[in-house]
Amino acid sequence: MKKDFVTLVVVGLGSLALTGNASADAERGKQVFRKCQACHSLEPGDNKVGPNLHGIMGQPAGHVEDYAYSSAMAQSELVWDDETMGEWLRSPRKLVKGTKMAFPGLRKDEEIEDVIEYIRASSE
Ligand code: HEC
Repeated sequence: MKKDFVTLVVVGLGSLALTGNASADAERGKQVFRKCQACHSLEPGDNKVGPNLHGIMGQPAGHVEDYAYSSAMAQSELVWDDETMGEWLRSPRKLVKGTKMAFPGLRKDEEIEDVIEYIRASSE
């Protein structure tokens, strides 16, 4: 009887850890990345309409050598960390006026955090 109770508590806590976690999730981010896929690949060296995003976190904006950035992006002097990437994905044209990335932005903080996590995880 006592053992059953303990099992129940352990199972209960386990599912809480799986579902009750508000932090970023690469699996969910993979779904969000579908919105980016038409223009971006995470395979090293594979540029599409937009530059390749492999290992982008921690890099300065406009670092992909064989990609033709807008001068706005090339001169932005941004470095992609959680904060700059978050602002960029919320409203690209607000952060970099004159960018040629034709994407309106993501509305939910959660989507932004998840997709950043996915980009990170896919760059390992
Ligand atoms: C319609 C095509 C399109 C979509 C959709 C799109 N992008 Fe872009 N993205 C671009 C283009 C084009 C650029 C280059 C912008 C410039 O040079 O001004 C770019 C640039 C970027 C950069 C800067 C890269 C660097 O090398 O500095 C990041 C980061 C980025 N996009 C992330 C995303 C993410 C994440 C999504 C999905 C949430 C997304 N983009 C959706 C076309 C797109």
